[in-house]
Amino acid sequence: MSDFIVVAGPDIADILRGDKAEVRDIVASTYRLHDAGDTINPDSYFLRFPHKPDSRVIALPAYIGAGVNRMGIKWISSFPDNLSRGIPRASAVLILNDFETGRPLACLESAHISAARTAASAAVAAEQLCRGTGITVGVVGTGVIASTVLDHLHSSTVDIADVVAHDLDHERVTGFAEQVRAEIGLDVAPVGLNTALKADLVVFATTAGEPYVAADHRFAPGQVVLNISLRDLPPEVILASTNLVDDVEHCLKANTSPHLAEQATGSREFIHGTLGGLLNGTVALPDGKPVVFSPFGLGVLDIAVGSHVMDRALETGKATVINRFIG
Ligand SMILES: NC(=O)c1ccc[n+]([C@@H]2O[C@H](COP(=O)([O-])OP(=O)(O)OC[C@H]3O[C@@H](n4cnc5c(N)ncnc54)[C@H](O)[C@@H]3O)[C@@H](O)[C@H]2O)c1
Repeated sequence: MSDFIVVAGPDIADILRGDKAEVRDIVASTYRLHDAGDTINPDSYFLRFPHKPDSRVIALPAYIGAGVNRMGIKWISSFPDNLSRGIPRASAVLILNDFETGRPLACLESAHISAARTAASAAVAAEQLCRGTGITVGVVGTGVIASTVLDHLHSSTVDIADVVAHDLDHERVTGFAEQVRAEIGLDVAPVGLNTALKADLVVFATTAGEPYVAADHRFAPGQVVLNISLRDLPPEVILASTNLVDDVEHCLKANTSPHLAEQATGSREFIHGTLGGLLNGTVALPDGKPVVFSPFGLGVLDIAVGSHVMDRALETGKATVINRFIG
């Protein structure tokens, strides 16, 4: 007989709120393990619907070795019409399996875990890439991911001076500014796209399906771009920048901006390296160009952060244990 652990979203949100620095450490060390070849992270599998083309569900199975020995799968839906229903676009569960027996061990609500690992990854990259103090942040796309990124940036070593934000939907920006002021304590000024693109640190977190930033736009040397939504930038802008990804094979897929750049040039030479390589000291960045970090979003990060959340939920009595789940 095996027990099964269930952890609910509000409890996970509480754990993640208190453990931001730990989550960034876990994400950084998982990137290092991934760079060292100590993970198994197959391609994400996309379930799409011809009669509902804007919606999708993605399966991300993954395993972390090197003594961590955790495995599982995230199953995450994106249904953009949910915003008009007043509920978040994305929802998810994470299944963790025991590595000795392969048996399912736990089911965790995972939209919070997914947002936290994405935001922690962005903050880890920004800590590595941003130089100096008094950094201006320009957010493009003001949803759940953008607010979680600001939360992690604010609690990281990045010294934020000002935040500006742009969204196609003006009401989303004003709601975002109110939420960020109340929950994170940062002031956000609504601006047009061109102003947001001039910030020291530009964060793309839209749901754009294809590039809309002008092909002749150029970021300045020293600017850092977190290309979280992956499809906002045309190939010309990617090719004029130093490009870091989380995983080359993963990121050059599904018509991401780096994938479009590969299709345009027939080469991957414009990819400078991975964030894991930078963290492990095997990748050094040249001066004189803006840096674009494009994280495809690795399942290993969900497994790593989810495992931490499960352990913490068991420690603090936030887990529900179903006895004799498998018998
Ligand atoms: N790379 C990763 O690891 C990773 C992980 C999680 C989410 N994401 C991506 O992050 C993005 C944001 O996720 P979310 O949950 O915050 O979404 P959301 O739906 O809550 O918010 C997206 C916002 O972008 C705005 N928007 C759409 N197109 C725009 C445009 N062209 N210009 C300006 N604003 C625009 C929308 O109005 C909306 O307010 C999604 O594309 C999601 O797939 C990436």
